[in-house]
Amino acid sequence: MEVSSTVIVMASLLVVLGFLVILCKPRGRLGRGGLGDLFGCLVSFYMNRHQLLDWYTDMLAESSTNTVVVERLGARRTIITANPNNVEYMLKTNFKNYPKGKPFTDILDDFLGSGIFNVDGDLWRVQRKLTSHEFSTRSLREYAMNALRNEVEDELLPALESAAESSRPVDLQDLLKRVAFNLICKVSLGTGVEGPCHSSLDLSLPGSPLARAFDVSSEVSAGRGAESLPVLWKIKRWLGVGSERRLREAVREIHAIINGAIHEKIIQKAKSGGCELDLLSRMISAGLDEGHVDKLRRGREGFNFSRDDGKQLDYETLSELRLLDACLYESMRLYPPVAWDSKHAVADDLLPDGTGVRSGDRVTYFPYGMGRMEALWGKDRLEFRPNRWLIGGSVGLDGSAGELKKVSPFKFPIFQAGPRDCIGKQMAFVQMKYVVASILRKFDIQPVSHSKPILVPRLTAHMAGGFLVHVRRSS
Ligand code: HEM
Repeated sequence: MEVSSTVIVMASLLVVLGFLVILCKPRGRLGRGGLGDLFGCLVSFYMNRHQLLDWYTDMLAESSTNTVVVERLGARRTIITANPNNVEYMLKTNFKNYPKGKPFTDILDDFLGSGIFNVDGDLWRVQRKLTSHEFSTRSLREYAMNALRNEVEDELLPALESAAESSRPVDLQDLLKRVAFNLICKVSLGTGVEGPCHSSLDLSLPGSPLARAFDVSSEVSAGRGAESLPVLWKIKRWLGVGSERRLREAVREIHAIINGAIHEKIIQKAKSGGCELDLLSRMISAGLDEGHVDKLRRGREGFNFSRDDGKQLDYETLSELRLLDACLYESMRLYPPVAWDSKHAVADDLLPDGTGVRSGDRVTYFPYGMGRMEALWGKDRLEFRPNRWLIGGSVGLDGSAGELKKVSPFKFPIFQAGPRDCIGKQMAFVQMKYVVASILRKFDIQPVSHSKPILVPRLTAHMAGGFLVHVRRSS
């Protein structure tokens, strides 16, 4: 080989290596910057690419501030933190400096457009006000409970009944995902069991066209976020090929179905002046008649969703199931549905732990890692121990639990925290508790495999490979 070509090959190798080395330089841990450290990091990044959540968690645990800074050539500087003081600062104290930002909203723009989840500033504020108002109404709560009761009693329990009869394992994750999606459609669009929104709970049948289009859109959008350079998905979108083509088709389908639902509601309302209670009808009414919302708020009192059998699982009963609350908190501590969440700094800043932030930096708070920090949860942090959520830390002989401990939402930001926290938290808890209580009253559920579940962090997390269980009627 001639000297000049050797030099070119060496130079190219150095560029490639340089790119890769800078690709994974977590400052919080390897800030001294020795070459050995950097190569160690490169190898470690490669070896851990299938378990990045745990890799980041380990690095955060080793950092004295529970914060690391990751820099990679051609990509945005990223600060990842599991430090509650930083989380409080970015989500509340200096909220204005940490919007989602264009790099984030660009990724979800085709899928979520200018909806509340994907906008900042005034556009967000207006939607937040309207949505919070609707979620605070008793009538929406009751409507949602009614939908929940129907979905569980008429669909979920019969599906589990037939699983118990057949003795074949069933994918509980798929089943519950369909239940959750049906509930979202019912509460937000007012759709029934007919039409393109409702998924059958017969798992041998595909999910509804809307659910499938949502799955594709969320998978491809999450893939955009994981792309090493954002320009790559932008080129694919411009060319209309591969995953971007699938996304375009899925979004087109979502728009067609949702527009159809809106159109139907408007016609229904014009015909009957109907007083539907789903979110879509409320939004339409809010646009057409502002006084309407107040009428809805004064709606039916005293509704409960007890069944004919006299056993009640109403809102009040559910709110007393504190051990169940504790189990849900504990599950989400270890397996948060939103494993990480990012904002983008508007201006240079300094986080409470002394980490410098530059304008444009991505700043990520990391609920998955936070749930596993010894500094936050103690030595038994990796154990599932619901009692840690209860005052006194124990359950009475009759199975009753005391009060729940108050835990700072900045230490446990599963529902985010601050001005932009989750509006649906209460509704989510009611739904989860109703579903779990209803299942456990009738069935024993045994996992087919006892190996540790693997959390796949997409837009929302799920278990790799589903969750196969045996269902038996409880004796
Ligand atoms: C266990 C279930 C749930 C979890 C863990 C959860 C978590 C979250 C998180 C982390 C965010 C912040 C997202 C971000 O800004 O990047 C959020 C926002 C939001 N959630 Fe939830 N959520 C749950 C269920 C629900 C339900 C059932 C609803 C409605 C029925 C809901 C409605 C919302 C809304 C409207 C926002 C946007 C708030 C805003 O941007 O101002 N969530 N949720």
